[in-house]
Amino acid sequence: MRRRKRQAGKPGSPPAGIKGRIKGAVPGRRNRSGAAVRKGMRKVEQLAIFGGTPVRETPVHYGKQYIDEEDIRAVSEVLRDGDLTCGPMIDAAERKLCEVTGAKYAVLVSNGTAALHLAALAAGFGEGDEVIVSSITFAASANCILYCGAKPVFADIDPETYNIDPKSVERLITPRTKGIVAVDFTGQAVEHKALQDICRKHGLRLIEDAAHAIGTRYGGRAVGSIADMTCFSFHPVKTITSGEGGAVTTNDPKLWARLRRLRAHGITRNREEMVHPTDALWYNEQVELGYNYRMTDIQAALLLSQFKKLDRFAARRREIVKKYDEAFSHMPEIALQREIPESDTVRHLYILRLKPERLTCGRRQFFDALGAENICSQVHYLPVYWHSYYEKLGYEKGLCPNAEKYYEEAMSLPLYYSLTDSDVDCVIRAVRKIVSYYRR
Ligand SMILES: Cc1ncc(COP(=O)(O)O)c(C=O)c1O
Repeated sequence: MRRRKRQAGKPGSPPAGIKGRIKGAVPGRRNRSGAAVRKGMRKVEQLAIFGGTPVRETPVHYGKQYIDEEDIRAVSEVLRDGDLTCGPMIDAAERKLCEVTGAKYAVLVSNGTAALHLAALAAGFGEGDEVIVSSITFAASANCILYCGAKPVFADIDPETYNIDPKSVERLITPRTKGIVAVDFTGQAVEHKALQDICRKHGLRLIEDAAHAIGTRYGGRAVGSIADMTCFSFHPVKTITSGEGGAVTTNDPKLWARLRRLRAHGITRNREEMVHPTDALWYNEQVELGYNYRMTDIQAALLLSQFKKLDRFAARRREIVKKYDEAFSHMPEIALQREIPESDTVRHLYILRLKPERLTCGRRQFFDALGAENICSQVHYLPVYWHSYYEKLGYEKGLCPNAEKYYEEAMSLPLYYSLTDSDVDCVIRAVRKIVSYYRR
């Protein structure tokens, strides 16, 4: 039987490394088969973590890219006779991103973190500024503020949508506040109306971190055309990929020009931007400190090819989300993520949130039990300020109670285009099995 390595060990014993930590959670008799065990008055199926039969023999990964022959051909063509960088694929993929998002301008960069860094610089964040950011997100959403010398200020999340709570944002505004980095967590659009009202009232820049949200719409408008700047990631776990890759979209021509210049070392060929303009054709001038954050044409060719499949990818993700929602909405032990009516979401992550008052296990035990059933999950995310680096900067636990509670209860289930119906059924069966076992 092909089981995941960490599950090997004495039959009937928990996987290596978690012994002891699950000690208090072994109320049934251990049993090597999948046969039912008695828990109080109920008969429940024995969990694989305690020696029962897993719901399947091979693992279901939690996220995976989908690459087809068309993608391989597109990349091969560039390798055979294209420009490897600064070539036509970049312009073509930028035009395509504008078409998909409805934004006027797009700047492709090497990854989503670079996109956030450039957007934060173009927004003018710097020393002495405070920038409000979601607390439940990947660290890069806040790191981009630190890169500019500004201070991240963490806003709490809405306890049901898990997105940044505009009421929490409002409470954190000071005379130093310069902007907001709001994350479309799991792909669901942030509450633009409320955030834009705050930005207008206080003269703030809004950067939308849409690393999860390509294809999502808010109030009928595609994400990418709404905030001052929107940042995307094309990492392989995202809905479409270029290997590594990112982009910033904007409707502002000045921001666009600045982003393009910062992407390429701060060097300009535009005489109007030069301090020492000449008419020499070879002349270019570095007018500020920029970076090499360029995407290659190899990556852009892959991205263009992936764009052709975006609608298909989005439709399949929606189908899977619907199946999960239907299965879990009948289970009082699980809370579903609330969708705001304005967001037509292409979901990047599916969050399974446990209700601790209904279960005798914690998230850690549930996560490990799911792994033993051969269903891989992940946790998105540790509240950013809980990272030890942020702790060293002086951030303390307790800042954002909703985010901290969410973190203790949440995990992400497998969600990607190539997940089959049978894979989805296995995930649902495993969740039901574990819930039945630990039900109060
Ligand atoms: C919310 C969020 N922001 C930013 C990033 C950074 O993107 P990248 O990995 O492309 O640098 C990620 C990546 O996982 C992310 O999930």
